[in-house]
Formats: sequence, structure tokens, C-alpha cells
Amino acid sequence: MKAVEIKPDIYWVGAIDWAVRDFHGYVTPNGTTYNNYLVLDEQITLFDTVKHDFSDVTIGNIRSLIDPSKIKNIVINHIENDHVTSIGDIMHLAPDATIYISERGKKGLDRFFDTSAWNMKIVKTGDTLNIGKRTLLFLETPMLHWPDSMMTYIKEDKLLISQDAFGQHYASAARFDDEFTTCFSVSELEDAIKDYYANILMPFGTLIKTKIAEIQKLGLEIDMIAPDHGIIWRKDPSKIINMYLDMADGKADLRVVIIYDTMWRSTEQMTLPLMQGIKDEGVDVKIVKLRANPISLAVKEFWKARGCLIGSPTLNNSMFPTIAEFLAYLKGLRPKGRLMGAFGSYGWMGGAVRDVYEEFKKMGLEMVEQGVQVVYKPSAEDEKRCYEFGREFANKVKEYHKNFK
Ligand code: FEO
Repeated sequence: MKAVEIKPDIYWVGAIDWAVRDFHGYVTPNGTTYNNYLVLDEQITLFDTVKHDFSDVTIGNIRSLIDPSKIKNIVINHIENDHVTSIGDIMHLAPDATIYISERGKKGLDRFFDTSAWNMKIVKTGDTLNIGKRTLLFLETPMLHWPDSMMTYIKEDKLLISQDAFGQHYASAARFDDEFTTCFSVSELEDAIKDYYANILMPFGTLIKTKIAEIQKLGLEIDMIAPDHGIIWRKDPSKIINMYLDMADGKADLRVVIIYDTMWRSTEQMTLPLMQGIKDEGVDVKIVKLRANPISLAVKEFWKARGCLIGSPTLNNSMFPTIAEFLAYLKGLRPKGRLMGAFGSYGWMGGAVRDVYEEFKKMGLEMVEQGVQVVYKPSAEDEKRCYEFGREFANKVKEYHKNFK
């Protein structure tokens, strides 16, 4: 895709990765984009690069506008590989350019590349750089989501270049929010945002609120947010900011997601009466089988629902391996504000449900204890117990949900 002017003399020069389905282990069913931006001012300035596989694409886009050797400044807002691994190729073409980067960004970049011949300047929050008609303001956002992360604000254009924050993994020909929702739908866009937030930013809710408050305190007028992935927010940037504030507060739907796996379908059989009990109490419910879905999808559904039931058969006196893997991944995301319960089947000895509850405790999640267990295969009486536990769980989720906005 050719360069796209997003503001007068400011261009998207990135790449669309239609094919990526495994993004460092995170499944991306819709691909992604690597966004970077070129400002044609007295000092030509490039913001970020792209994943190395797409180096030729971004260089082609830059060449369509200027001779790359004329790049004077390169702002590196984030050093993760998907944004920085073209920097060597860019520096080869613009060896006299100066890189502006956070202190921790420089430390990382020095490990990834031989930077000894490169001009580099460390910047921190509040530092500015005049590039002609425009002044750049640097805003460090450490741990959002890497230690080096920062954003850059261009006052004259009311433009916030926000690196990973406010992004989504979605390959599309649309570059802007209004274009995207014309071609697809608002709900599809919101789903992509929640997927990205749940799998990447869930641990950082408190930091996100603090950083957004800091930006608001600075009184920066923002009429466009340009992230490093997905669509650019030009129609209503406040929409994505408000969505982030809601997600940072742990906003969820009054819904239960049942996430399970099964060996010989006994645990699977339990999901249906559980679902019916939840539904009969007026709570929306969804079922996700782990072996049929990527973990990242299960995490997204977990994040969207206020309550979650985990179902596991017992294998070797403990959880089924896919359940253990899911809970390990979830633990790293430090979830909050979700009510948990467990269920499962076993043959001669139990252990899975007990160990699932232990994991909930380690995560500090609130739970409805005991859950429900069956031996070998659910009987009619067992199914009734599942149904009643579903009803009980739904009612507790309704009560718990009142604690949140
Ligand atoms: Fe898109 Fe943190 O890299």
C-alpha cells in the first residue's frame, strides 16, 4: 500500500502484514499492520520503523516521498522487534540521521544493534525538538508496555503518535477509524481493541489510567491518535481514550464465559447444564473449548465477561495440560475484577478442580468455591447439580457485577 497523508505533510509509511497469524505466540487471525510515520518539515523526521520483513515496503513508501538520505531525525518510541528491526536498513540509507530515544530504549537498542556509529540523543518526558514549523514533545510511558516505551506529541497538528497504545492487530486497507467502520463495523473494531488490550495491556491498567491522567493534565489538545498497529483515530480520538479508561477500570459485560477442555467428553457434557443454569438466571453465557481455540481468543472472552468458569478433567491427579497452560498465561496478565469458579470430571482420583482453585487463589481472584465435580460420566443427577451450580454462579456474578461501573 502506498504512503497515506494523515495530516498535511505527515504520512503513514508503514506496512500491512495480511498473513501473520502467530505474533510472538499470540494468534492474530486478522493479521496486523506496522505503522510508522514521516513528517516532511524543514528537518525530515521519521517516527519508528517496521518489522524487518517489511523493511523494503517502508523504504519504498519513504522513497515515494523523499530521498531517504534526507531523513534528519528518527524518533524511536518503542524498541520491540516489530517496530525497530528495520532501523539498520534505514540508518544505512540515512547515516547522518539522529535517533531520539528514551534512556531505556537506547540501552535495548545497543543490545539489538551495533549502534556505535549512530548519532543518538536520549530524551525524557517534557523534552522538545523543533523540526521547523513543528515542535515535538516527548512523553515517556515506561511499562506501557515495555520499559523503553514513549509517545510523541506534535502540538501544531494536535497529533499523538502513541506507539503500541491504542492499537489493534487488524490488517485492512482502511487506515482510519471512519474508513474501517464503513467497510467493516464498529463492533468488529471494538473486538479487535479488546483482543489487543486483553492479551498485551491487561497487566497495566493502573499505569494506563495514571498516564492518561498525566496527558490530560498537560492539557494537550488531541484531534488524532496514530498508533503503531491498526487504524488511526481521526474521527473521534476520545472514543479510544474512553475505551482504555473503561478497560483499565476492568469494565466487563454481565456475562459468564465457560472455558474448558475435555478428554472423553464428560467435562464437555457438564458445560451444557451449567450454561442452561446461567442462562435461566438471565445472564449471557458463552462456551470456549481450549483445544478448539487459541489461548489468546480465550483470554479475550475471559476479559469481556464478568464471570468465568474453568472446566478441566483430571489427568495424573491434576489439571488437563491445556488448562494449566491457559491459567499460566492468564496469571502473567494479572487479571482483576473477575469472579471465578471451576468444574470437572475424574475417574479414580480427583485433583483438577482443587488445583484450578489453587491457581485462582494465587492470582488473587475472587471465586465461588467448591465448584462441581462428577465421577466418570455425568448422570442425570450430576447434570442437575451442574444446572444448580450454574444458577448459583450466575446470581453471584450478578451481585459481584454491582461493584463495578
Ligand atoms: Fe508492537 Fe510492543 O510492539
